[in-house]
Amino acid sequence: MDSKTEIIKDLRKAMEFYQELGFEHLPVKLSGTDGAPTSATRSKVSERSGVYTADKAKALKELQKEIGDCRRCGLSKGRANIVFGEGSPDAELMFVGEGPGREEDIQARPFVGDAGKVLTSLISRMGLSREEVYIANVVKCRPPSNRNPEEDEMEACGPFIERQTDIISPKVIVALGRFAARRLTGSRIPISRLRGKFYEYRGIPVMPTFHPAYLMRNPRDKWLTWEDAQQVLKRIKK
Ligand code: URA
Repeated sequence: MDSKTEIIKDLRKAMEFYQELGFEHLPVKLSGTDGAPTSATRSKVSERSGVYTADKAKALKELQKEIGDCRRCGLSKGRANIVFGEGSPDAELMFVGEGPGREEDIQARPFVGDAGKVLTSLISRMGLSREEVYIANVVKCRPPSNRNPEEDEMEACGPFIERQTDIISPKVIVALGRFAARRLTGSRIPISRLRGKFYEYRGIPVMPTFHPAYLMRNPRDKWLTWEDAQQVLKRIKK
């Protein structure tokens, strides 16, 4: 028997196994007109969404291209780089911050400055790595002198965090700080009262918690963020 015939035989066996278990369809979503994978790189199908990880990566790249040399709001005037976001397109956990700071603006990467160190350490205490999660911000350009992002700036950038969320489709989002929490939950309740409970953003549970920069100034509140992180981990494992 040649290797092709052997593969077909194995595939048939696997299909029969799924059929016996009562499956009428395989739990995968294929794109392309003939329903077959169109690229050799599409080897990994997300167990959660049934969407190829490579398709999510491609969708994110296309979204980034669409942002282009963005001039949709005034923040474009002072930025060095657009900080799109980074991490696994197939992440179960997504962190959303406020907006890039100085170091992020220089490196075009989210949370790589001092607040980033606090976030990276939280991620690793959660048993994860930065590469396994996805990190983005509600505004993609640095507000001048790190001022708070304004409503019209968050509005102009809004479609991009929406679409990043839809593409990645994480199991849980952690909203870091007042502005991310406000944008994702729609609530104006202070973060100290908002945190610790799940809300919903585009059908995905959102846990608001303190911003890492706040935790640098108020290290005694770190345990509260750790409590929030425990709830998040429990929710991911459900
Ligand atoms: N603070 C944020 O909210 N986002 C970053 O990327 C860095 C600092």
